[in-house]
This record gives sequence, structure tokens and C-alpha cells, in this order.
Amino acid sequence: MIHIFKQGTDEKKPVLLLLHGTGGNEEDLLTLAEMISPDSSVLSVRGNVLENGMPRFFRRLSEGVFDEEDLILRTKELYDFMDESAEKYAFDRQNIVAVGYSNGANIAGSLLFHYENSLKGAILHHPMVPRRGIELPTITQLPVFIGAGKNDPICSPEETEELAKILTEAGASVHIKWDHMGHQLSRAEVEDAAEWFNKNFS
Ligand code: MLT
Repeated sequence: MIHIFKQGTDEKKPVLLLLHGTGGNEEDLLTLAEMISPDSSVLSVRGNVLENGMPRFFRRLSEGVFDEEDLILRTKELYDFMDESAEKYAFDRQNIVAVGYSNGANIAGSLLFHYENSLKGAILHHPMVPRRGIELPTITQLPVFIGAGKNDPICSPEETEELAKILTEAGASVHIKWDHMGHQLSRAEVEDAAEWFNKNFS
């Protein structure tokens, strides 16, 4: 996968896996990593799917309706890429925290829905429920931050609550931060994510 790897100054800090939104790329969230954990190594990945020229992490059939088969395949592709990258760049595979926005948050959520040891934690900015009707692996105590908009037209507050409930039932420790900025990712939301990160991973 096309990506950027930046070696951090503190090897004990989790590696941040950055996952952009639809139409973004591996450069987009680098400033978030600086705000959340400036000493961490960063693995920032570009989605392999193109929708009218816009990179994404998996196909969708229409706005908010995911191609499940492709979601499962692409989730495995990303999972395998994390394994390969840990070997290639010599970082601890068990110490990765995802930071995803929108489509990137959805594939990060999908990692949690499908794999037991995929992530040590996750910051999900404006995520949706990636899949329904499956049993999640155990993700006991896994810290998850969800940034959500009370007025998000793409991900309704009800869907945010549903995602939090599914993850909590699988064992995760979920923190929701509500905002009123629609689907936008605001600086205030990233600052809240940074504060949450430092409480959970320092
Ligand atoms: C998705 O397709 O993952 C969601 O609709 C969010 C987005 O617009 O990318």
C-alpha cells in the first residue's frame, strides 16, 4: 500500500496508524499525529480503492452503503500490511493505535470488528457502524475514542450510539466526544482526542 512511515523519537509510544477520509491521502492526517503524540512513529496509509479518482479504503455501493465483500477483503489487506510494516520498520506490532477520519475511521472500526489483536486503541473521527450481524472478537479494555457530531448528516447520533454499544459489548472502553460541526473534523475534536490519548497511553 502507498504509505509514509516516520520514525518517532520514543519507541515506547504507540505507533499511530493514520487513515484518511474519502478523497484524501497519506499526507492528510500527519498534522493530527503531531497534535496527538509528537514522539510516536507514524504509519500513514493511502486507501487502495478509487471512487471517481478519490482514494478510499473500501468500496461503497452508495453513500453510507458499504460493499461488504470488499470491506472484508480490504480490512484483511490493511491488517496484513500492518504485519508487514512492523517487520519492515522494526516496530512493535502489538503497539499500534489507529487514528481515522470518516472512511478511514470506518476501516479502523472494521479492524476491531474482525480481528482480536489488530489495534491497541483507536481514535475514530466520525465513524459509522462498518458491519452488522456479526459477533465481534473480544477486545477487552481496548480504549476507543469516538468524535461525533450531533448534527452529522453522514453518521447520525443514533448510529454513533449503536457503534459505541457494539464496541462496549465486545469489551472496549469507549469514550464519545460530541460536537456540533456536522461531519467536519474540528481542531477542538483533535485536541480532545489528544487529551484522551495522553490519559490512556502515557
Ligand atoms: C464511508 O463511505 O466510509 C462513509 O460514507 C464516510 C465517507 O463519506 O467516506
